[in-house]
Amino acid sequence: MATAQQLKALIASYADGDRARFLSVAAQISAHAAKSGNQKLADELLKLVDSARRSAEAEPDRRVLPIAQPTGELSGLVSASFPKATLDDMILAAETRSRLDRVLREYRQADLLAGHGLSPRRKLLLLGPPGCGKTMTATALAGELHLPLLTVQFHTMITKYLGESAAKLRLIFDMMHERRGVFLFDEFDAIASQRYGGQDVGEIRRVLNAFLVFIESDNSQSLLIAASNLAPTIDAAVFRRFDDVLMYDMPADSMVRDLIVRRLGSFLSERPNWTRIGELATGLSHAEIVQACDDAAKEAVLDGRSRTTASELHKAIERRRRLN
Ligand SMILES: Nc1ncnc2c1ncn2[C@@H]1O[C@H](COP(=O)(O)OP(=O)(O)O)[C@@H](O)[C@H]1O
Ligand SMILES: [Mg+2]
Repeated sequence: MATAQQLKALIASYADGDRARFLSVAAQISAHAAKSGNQKLADELLKLVDSARRSAEAEPDRRVLPIAQPTGELSGLVSASFPKATLDDMILAAETRSRLDRVLREYRQADLLAGHGLSPRRKLLLLGPPGCGKTMTATALAGELHLPLLTVQFHTMITKYLGESAAKLRLIFDMMHERRGVFLFDEFDAIASQRYGGQDVGEIRRVLNAFLVFIESDNSQSLLIAASNLAPTIDAAVFRRFDDVLMYDMPADSMVRDLIVRRLGSFLSERPNWTRIGELATGLSHAEIVQACDDAAKEAVLDGRSRTTASELHKAIERRRRLN
């Protein structure tokens, strides 16, 4: 028989109109029956789930996302959005892209995996310098999975709710159970760094410990993403709580080129000197390159032109570089 938790999850997913989750829980109940020796029931359940899934696939997804901006105790703590972005909007290293594709593949077929007692990758740690696409990755995963993005800023939480941060964190993890979404815990370095020099070290330790315990015990259907700028200072104990750790870095020359072509498209009137651009852009992040493209484009638009020149682009990149 199903466990009490499975039955509760089944009813909650029905109440939410979350068909994918309903089927996933049903598949878990089947796996549970198989494990308890009731193979006949397991097979029957799996057959039902399969045919329900097939008919669901034949229809368009009518599921209405039940999330509005969080209210009550969660407002000011979590902000919600419904991103449209996809991974194709990003310029990513091949290795990173294939790992993210794997996350999507496993998540989309979570019920298939659950039928075999397996669970998808759901807990990701993104590390790397600012402006290389960590936040954008969370946004794109939400867009790809048609899930809301719920963002928690650790820094705000610690300063705003001093002494209560761990309790607030519990509220967020409860929400992760109730509502499927991509939960981004941004600025994770605010608590995960061994070298954090803030005054309230005790509070930060407490929040980090609570966070690690919550991550470990979380078995919700939400995607949990923590992002941090400070890779080398992250505690080793933190790494093993995640299903995957992805490293982000400044763009290589070929990525700079892809970023510019993607951002400016036909707005670029002539072929820029890519070698020169590669030199100029060394040390700039993806975000800074996108900003330079926008600077060049704006200059052209304000000048009454519909194209930007290569020299405008060179200058815009140089200006960004001087800001560093
Ligand atoms: N890999 C990328 N591909 C395309 N654009 C990017 C990428 N990384 C960053 N950007 C651009 O820079 C902006 C800021 O990036 P963000 O994801 O916030 O960086 P991070 O969270 O790593 O500091 C994005 O909104 C996007 O315009
Ligand atoms: Mg960010």
